[in-house]
Amino acid sequence: MDLPEIAGRWPAINPAYGNVTLRAFRPEDATMAMDLSRDPYVPTTGTLPLNATPHQAQQWIHRQQTRHTAGTGFSFAVVDNTEGRCAGFTGLWVRKLHSGRATIGYGIAPSSRGRHLASDALRAVEPFAWTIPELHRLELYIEPWNTASIRTAERAGYLREGLLRSHQEISGQRRDMLLYSTVRD
Ligand SMILES: CC(C)(COP(=O)(O)OP(=O)(O)OC[C@H]1O[C@@H](n2cnc3c(N)ncnc32)[C@H](O)[C@@H]1OP(=O)(O)O)[C@@H](O)C(=O)NCCC(=O)NCCS
Repeated sequence: MDLPEIAGRWPAINPAYGNVTLRAFRPEDATMAMDLSRDPYVPTTGTLPLNATPHQAQQWIHRQQTRHTAGTGFSFAVVDNTEGRCAGFTGLWVRKLHSGRATIGYGIAPSSRGRHLASDALRAVEPFAWTIPELHRLELYIEPWNTASIRTAERAGYLREGLLRSHQEISGQRRDMLLYSTVRD
């Protein structure tokens, strides 16, 4: 299926909530990407290699910068306003825009964790999502063991809808996924 045309829909004003601001990725964010890649779970759910080299981190940044023009979605750098630097990422993925649905992913680099920055990022991206008229539902897919992500989703106001058994393969194993969502008022 053709990817949706979203090239003209990048937010005019950087979305923000609480302690975070979302903006486009910049080359200097490779430092965050290298930090993020030290978490062995992160490479299993995306394209960032484990313990990324500076070159691999730059390549990952470049991929994030091209998601929007490719039509797969909006990949934002999550800037920690307190430190004034990139602390992680959040992606609004819109391959199912034609169905009124998008999924959101997120990760915070290990050195920036512990301050609920991911739930702030979720809160920041939601109002932007609702500026896209076709969208009516935002979904999060979370493994049941991932308490930090579950707490993040619930803190940001997402509701648990159920357990999707054997939903997808990660690291060569079928995994159950909790489905969380929020819908347009
Ligand atoms: C999920 C993630 C983004 C959260 O980062 P964060 O915003 O810094 O989250 P915090 O460290 O502030 O923790 C959020 C909550 O989870 C709890 N938590 C954090 N790590 C935990 C752990 N290992 N076990 C249990 N609870 C944990 C915190 O106590 C906090 O609880 P509270 O809301 O009751 O205060 C981060 O852990 C991460 O990047 N994980 C790897 C990538 C990932 O799993 N992404 C989501 C995929 S669905």
